[in-house]
Amino acid sequence: MAELVGCFAASHGPLLVREWDAIPQDQKARLQAAYAELGRRISLAKPDVIVEIAPDHWSNFFLDNIPSVCIGVGAAHEGPPEPWMKAFPLRELAGDPGLAQHIAQTAMLEGFEPSLSHRLKLDHGFCIPFLRMGMTALPRIVPVIVNSIEPPLPSLRRCLQWGGLLRKAVASYSAPLRVAVLGSGGLSHSIGEPTMGAIDENLDRECIRLFAAPEDELLSYLEQQLPKAGNGTEEIRNWLVAHGAAGGRGFELIDYLPVPTVIVGCGIAAWRP
Ligand SMILES: [Fe+2]
Repeated sequence: MAELVGCFAASHGPLLVREWDAIPQDQKARLQAAYAELGRRISLAKPDVIVEIAPDHWSNFFLDNIPSVCIGVGAAHEGPPEPWMKAFPLRELAGDPGLAQHIAQTAMLEGFEPSLSHRLKLDHGFCIPFLRMGMTALPRIVPVIVNSIEPPLPSLRRCLQWGGLLRKAVASYSAPLRVAVLGSGGLSHSIGEPTMGAIDENLDRECIRLFAAPEDELLSYLEQQLPKAGNGTEEIRNWLVAHGAAGGRGFELIDYLPVPTVIVGCGIAAWRP
């Protein structure tokens, strides 16, 4: 049977690539160390497949078709389409159709109804964590897009439930695979709106604290605070999926720092599976 070998989360703001050289040296050193530690832990877990949860930044979907959740079931996925992601060395990333279809089938049986795609582009949201971790020889990726961009968004509780669904699907998959979950997004940031560039460090730190609290406390706080936070903060949904996959416990922060140069409250975390 497949085994869940680790759950992880990391931030992915575009300026972590585009303005990397402009980040003050002390902050860059901390970011480098945190991403390297995340990469070390993922490598130690020896996953055959990473189920990666991230938003779509208008790379695959637009206003004519916006799924709440879309599972990439293809044998291969396209590399990041953004011209400024040229430093990412892979133009194609291997998928795992067997596990992806099993997750989709399990979801349908459990009352979840995801969209499916046989050919996704994995944009910067999927690829920046790997780029910053220095992971270029990747295991197979099963991408799961969670709409964190264009309202109405899936509820925070539903995102947590999606994590539980992933956990159940991995546990019931018959192939002897080692599977990790990686949530990509957040923490606080604001894009293309009057508060653009704002980082809410208080929200980020409270959110991080509540990942170790009962889930109702975490959800209640986020339900109240996210509507008042920058729009990019909605991407915390991807952390909630990882949290749910880990069984909602064992959160461990690798590092958190607000980085004004990249206009993101950058968090990097791991959970015990
Ligand atoms: Fe994003």
